[in-house]
Amino acid sequence: RVVVLDFGGQYNQLIARRIRDLGVFSELVPHHITAEKLKAMKPKGIVFSGGPASVYADGAPKCDPAIFELGIPILGICYGMQLISAHFGADVARAGKREYGKAEVEITSDSPLFHGLGKQESVWMSHTDVVTSPPEGFQVDGRTSSAPVAAMSHPSRKIHAVQFHPEVRHTENGNEMIRHFLYCVCQCEGTWSMESFIDDTVKDLKKQIGEKRVLCALSGGVDSSVVAALIHRAIGDQLTCVFVDHGLLRKGEAESVMRTFADQFQMNVVKVDAKERFLSKLKGVSDPEKKRKIIGNEFIRVFEEETEKLGEHHFLAQGTLYTDIVESGTETAQTIKSHHNVGGLPEDMKMDLVEPVNTLFKDEVRKVGEELGLSKEIVWRQPFPGPGLGIRVIGEVTEEKLKIVRESDAILQEEIKKAGLDHEIWQYFTALPDFKSVGVMGDARTYAYTVGIRAVTSIDGMTADWARIPYEVLERISNRMINEVDGVNRVVYDITSKPPATIEWE
Ligand code: XMP
Repeated sequence: RVVVLDFGGQYNQLIARRIRDLGVFSELVPHHITAEKLKAMKPKGIVFSGGPASVYADGAPKCDPAIFELGIPILGICYGMQLISAHFGADVARAGKREYGKAEVEITSDSPLFHGLGKQESVWMSHTDVVTSPPEGFQVDGRTSSAPVAAMSHPSRKIHAVQFHPEVRHTENGNEMIRHFLYCVCQCEGTWSMESFIDDTVKDLKKQIGEKRVLCALSGGVDSSVVAALIHRAIGDQLTCVFVDHGLLRKGEAESVMRTFADQFQMNVVKVDAKERFLSKLKGVSDPEKKRKIIGNEFIRVFEEETEKLGEHHFLAQGTLYTDIVESGTETAQTIKSHHNVGGLPEDMKMDLVEPVNTLFKDEVRKVGEELGLSKEIVWRQPFPGPGLGIRVIGEVTEEKLKIVRESDAILQEEIKKAGLDHEIWQYFTALPDFKSVGVMGDARTYAYTVGIRAVTSIDGMTADWARIPYEVLERISNRMINEVDGVNRVVYDITSKPPATIEWE
């Protein structure tokens, strides 16, 4: 494996992702991990990620200096390169201006990182500080017009560093550079695949769980279904799955999820009707973070109560993804929103968590699902957030507003499928803003709600673009919503990508 030290930044996990795509298992760890712990992970290589800080700023994230003495190859990227430079005694200077965007790097050495590539490489830069001359023992491998040291290395220590970002697609041969680091510098074997992920995970789960029992929070989506299938493969009937109807589900959802599971899984699935308790806890609450925390908390309470009825279950398994963790905020990444299964958990949880897919992205989980033989219906189900319609009704959640979202969403689902667009759009749904506006219907004034349509294309949910739904389809959807859903007199289409917006409205 190759371990990525996380120095901050929302997109650092892309590095781990690229490495896995190249056939080597990789995961992100906090930058302050000790050299001893890191060594125990037996990595073949270490990557220092980028980050927003300046190495000389107060509180700038550092790493255990003993890591440099482990003899394990290191690749520093952007902030990572500056940290390496500062550690080995070179000057890192504030550049006069920020260098952001495409740049041309002139390759000036025969560093293995750039084997087989051109003398001039198109790369993506995003930095303010620059290394003006390399530390002692390091050679310059590349330069740009504004960065005299755009790439450098210490061949005998097997330390390589680049000022640009090889992990982003805009660096044309970034993947090749990472591949060379993995295979030429670290001597990785490239045997990691979804198949080996499944074997290793099942082995780890057996070890972690032993003879104990596990309750799996099943939502019907691909993440929790994959988790249930993995755990079932590891421990069989020591697993119980629980599906909670929190009253924030889409039209007909509870029935369809239970039907799918009965058809496809030989597992024990218990359905809990918890509508009343969720809705009463949400009464009068309009702040999105508060709503997320209440829902996350209530989920756990329901699971704990179920274990009282079903007998002790030591572990709670969840389909937490890597995205949920980063967006909920880590030591280095800011909180964007508290995903119900991470930032929304109560502090005094009684059960221990089992989260076997928390290093993966949605598209990777889908690959695991296919490999495990789950049906297309489950594997390609569009994502639905745990807090459900609770975060699609903006502001206070009421039965009246839930009904509007449910009915308008059902129309959207139907029309998108009818138009044959459901495979190309990653997620499509309606949200209900918390205001009314004036309209005119049949010569009379109306004062009613506005429905917002959200439809995005994406690969992993980290970034997204609004889907270009044809006008005729939008027109049909709008007409139907106004005519068929009580309390609605206006429909709008959200044309914002992520970033700067997020996919959900709360
Ligand atoms: P955002 O809104 O952050 O959403 O752009 C990214 C993806 O995550 C889903 N999402 C959630 N999933 N619990 C979940 O299980 C949550 O609390 C949560 N919040 C957002 C969202 O639907 C999208 O697919």
